[in-house]
Amino acid sequence: MSHILILYSTTDGHTIRICERLRSVIEAQGPRVTVKALAEGTAEDLSSCDAVVIGASIRYGKHKPEVGAFITRHQAALEARPNAFFSVNVVARKPGKNRPEANPYLLKFLRGIAWKPQRLAVFAGKIDYPSYGALDRTMIRFIMWMTKGPTDPTAVIEFTNWGQVETFGAEIARVAP
Ligand SMILES: Cc1cc2nc3c(=O)[nH]c(=O)nc-3n(C[C@H](O)[C@H](O)[C@H](O)COP(=O)(O)O)c2cc1C
Repeated sequence: MSHILILYSTTDGHTIRICERLRSVIEAQGPRVTVKALAEGTAEDLSSCDAVVIGASIRYGKHKPEVGAFITRHQAALEARPNAFFSVNVVARKPGKNRPEANPYLLKFLRGIAWKPQRLAVFAGKIDYPSYGALDRTMIRFIMWMTKGPTDPTAVIEFTNWGQVETFGAEIARVAP
């Protein structure tokens, strides 16, 4: 049975939920899946898996620095097996920006690293205004106002297209059956 490693970088946990949905889709096809924080990922984790997926959320325009650092450190191991990367952000809620080749954060991130993931995805994330501190809430409401998104400070909105997540999971399961 093949083993797929999914590493996540998250702040508020939504990327973990996406990873868990990927896990259930992939495991239903047969492979075993480990979902783990990227910050805890090791060279041994990589060498003992048959395929690897990294998923990371965007905050104020960037993935966490740990993402680029991990990729640079482990680039050879990533390239030695089927590999994929996905980004989670709310700009991806927009129809023109929900594909890897059209999402500005993903494109910029890929320009800054040498690794060329074999498969890419971008998923729309979640806004949870009540859970944010005052400054973050104000900033996100402002960004949403600028981009014609929801600004109600009591709103919790999940933009994720779970069907798109499941399609990506099925694709991953096919490369490491
Ligand atoms: C403080 C903060 C800053 C954010 N900045 C951006 C941003 O610059 N662009 C964007 O598209 N989404 C932004 N988001 C939305 C997150 O990417 C979205 O909430 C995502 O679901 C977070 O995933 P996580 O829970 O795994 O960290 C931001 C969210 C927060 C709370």
